[in-house]
Amino acid sequence: MKTTSPLSLILAVGLGASLAACSGSRDDLSPLGAAEGEIRATNTGSYNLHLEETLRFNPVQPGADPARGRALFGLAADSDTEDKSQALFEGPSVAFGGTVVSNQRTCFTCHRGLVVELGLPAAPLSASIDAGDALFTGIQADAQGDPDALGNLDELALIKYRPNRFNPQRGEDDPFRRVFFWRKSTRLINVAFGIGFLNDARGRTMFETDRGAVFSHTQSSDRRFDDLFSVQDGNDLEAFQFSQLSDPRLAALRDPSDPMFRVLARDPFYTVPVATRAQERGKRVFEKYCMTCHNVPNVFSNLSNIEPLGNGETDVQNPVFGPSVGRTFNVGVSERNRHGLRFTHHAGGGRFEPIVLPLVDEDGAVVPFEVTMDVGLAATTGRLQDVGRFKVPQLRRLARNAPYFHDNSAMTIEEVVDHFNSDFYNRSRDGRRFPIRLDHRQRADLIEFLRIL
Ligand code: HEC
Ligand code: HEC
Repeated sequence: MKTTSPLSLILAVGLGASLAACSGSRDDLSPLGAAEGEIRATNTGSYNLHLEETLRFNPVQPGADPARGRALFGLAADSDTEDKSQALFEGPSVAFGGTVVSNQRTCFTCHRGLVVELGLPAAPLSASIDAGDALFTGIQADAQGDPDALGNLDELALIKYRPNRFNPQRGEDDPFRRVFFWRKSTRLINVAFGIGFLNDARGRTMFETDRGAVFSHTQSSDRRFDDLFSVQDGNDLEAFQFSQLSDPRLAALRDPSDPMFRVLARDPFYTVPVATRAQERGKRVFEKYCMTCHNVPNVFSNLSNIEPLGNGETDVQNPVFGPSVGRTFNVGVSERNRHGLRFTHHAGGGRFEPIVLPLVDEDGAVVPFEVTMDVGLAATTGRLQDVGRFKVPQLRRLARNAPYFHDNSAMTIEEVVDHFNSDFYNRSRDGRRFPIRLDHRQRADLIEFLRIL
């Protein structure tokens, strides 16, 4: 395993940042290295992350069946209505210590078909979803008596999450067991190009993410039932989700042997229908300021990765060892907490207690951190540097994907651009490294471009 001192990596990051910020030339800013015949990421590493050399994504497992995965997901063959018949994950379980009785929620409950890109419709949810739907009747699975949960669900389409709920190493009173988020249900379109899953990329593999979804949304206890979720179930669900692309041409990006792979990898905008001069100018603004992070060609998520053992070597005995695999950034959305969400522990009887996480700084010092916002990746890694870090979402069909950010805090594309153009972003941990200042014209052009993604 290669070790590099944190200091030299920090210096490398600083250098990469200043190059990206000062240069207007396409080559420096393209996610693809210039060398002939070679496809590389120019994105610079974070303090502890090993960089991925090539464009590659988690493959679907041999023998995986996407049609069965769709049925396990609770989606009917029409891709827009629910079919629960194979999707409830209930029955006798040795791991659970009894019989799991489903609350009737399926994956479809919160990822409601292709019409909403496998996410939730616009809030208020009660305007389009029946009060008797398991989304509402099963709410205690996630809410567990939290008095804010119903309002946050209906009015903001946010769901309560306790990321360490199923970690048997964390006792009931452990602040890491108590810490929680209010999160939007991520749209699963193009999830095939994600490296790290969930809004903060804490899900290292799709299998682990899907199994956690089954445990958490089916029932309200913190008990696991691993024996009701087989490897084949996970592989089939993954194959179904990885097949949900915004454009069938993107499939080539997952297969370096496809003749179109190189075309899509080399022209980041190959599938983007740029037609007007304003869109063309907006594309250049995007290249200059946004592709520092949104750098997967034609998809615009982030392609940097961590391989725990370096250089694409994965320990077969322990494929998911390592803190997290996705590259995450703090862009100031959590700190802004635009909806004024509450992050104290509901102790019952209308009492609320602060949650104080012992987070570890880079020098090893333990810092008590009182939670007043969504702490992002830090809730899982326990590291101070990971506070407020989130993964870089894909941007295709953006106009259909509102509202935006992990807490649904931007209602429109304009609000997203204004966030990145504001002090909320520019004073954030990563905004300071990659500043964005757009004038009136650049802002307007960028918005024109984002609309056609
Ligand atoms: C009660 C609502 C709800 C249900 C039911 C639900 N999800 Fe989700 N899903 C969410 C939320 C909320 C997030 C984001 C969570 C976070 O960031 O912590 C999410 C995120 C995900 C992600 C991460 C996507 C990405 O872009 O990284 C995957 C994969 C996923 N869900 C799969 C599933 C599967 C499979 C099921 C069924 C077993 C399921 N979900 C059931 C609400 C739900
Ligand atoms: C420093 C890295 C970084 C830069 C630079 C950056 N982004 Fe992002 N972007 C992110 C992260 C991280 C998120 C997720 C934030 C969250 O949900 O809290 C995000 C979220 C978004 C979203 C929300 C997508 C959704 O579905 O919710 C949009 C849209 C977006 N960015 C567009 C842009 C544009 C346009 C620019 C350039 C003006 C830009 N980004 C620059 C990292 C970056």
